[in-house]
Amino acid sequence: MPLAPVIAIDGPTASGKGTIAHAVARELGFGCLDSGALYRVVALQALRRKVDPGDAPALAQLARDARLRFDSGRVELDGEDVAGAIRAEEVGRLASRVAAHGPVRDALLQLQRSFRRWPGLVADGRDMGTVVFADACLKVFLTASVEERAGRRFKQLKEKGYSVNLAALLLDLRERDERDRTRAVAPLVAAEDAWQLDATNLTIDEVVAQVLAWYGAVSEH
Ligand code: CDP
Repeated sequence: MPLAPVIAIDGPTASGKGTIAHAVARELGFGCLDSGALYRVVALQALRRKVDPGDAPALAQLARDARLRFDSGRVELDGEDVAGAIRAEEVGRLASRVAAHGPVRDALLQLQRSFRRWPGLVADGRDMGTVVFADACLKVFLTASVEERAGRRFKQLKEKGYSVNLAALLLDLRERDERDRTRAVAPLVAAEDAWQLDATNLTIDEVVAQVLAWYGAVSEH
């Protein structure tokens, strides 16, 4: 049997990748992989076990040892649902540091690829189209202005009851983008064959419709 089709959605922090990926997967009846959640789980585990964010071998070991399960919105780490805990800003910030280590990325590679099942997968992250699913049939690079992204993240975090400061958030997004773009391994960059989509002035429905239209066009061939 040939490999199942993959739609890769990459882009900077808070560009709406997760929301779009879920909606597209729902429309097509595909599975969904939030690859950032894996790096967030490793970061959460590092915080709990007080592992130094610079210690690549120890972090890679954490990634290999974590017993992970993803099931309809739940993210289970060693049997505990950590879906809420991994969304904290502190965890996201650390995830971006943890994710810069090659050995950590290698430790998570096979796990990510194991999500590829029929009828198909929508995978979102930073290197879905460039590394993990380099043969994806559709690659989307989703961006939005940093102000728009900070505003969205601000709203999202407030709704979840976190106290946030917009100026600090903006600074943090810039820092995280910079780290993701300039790291030596799997940097955040659009694949050569990616379709670029700037969502600054688009609604979620418009972005989803565009991705579905592109998928319709590529899957006809
Ligand atoms: O929500 P946000 O877009 O900030 O982050 P995320 O997608 O949950 O990912 C958390 C962190 O993991 C990011 O800051 C990236 O540094 C890293 N990441 C990565 O390196 N590669 C991926 N495929 C996905 C996430």
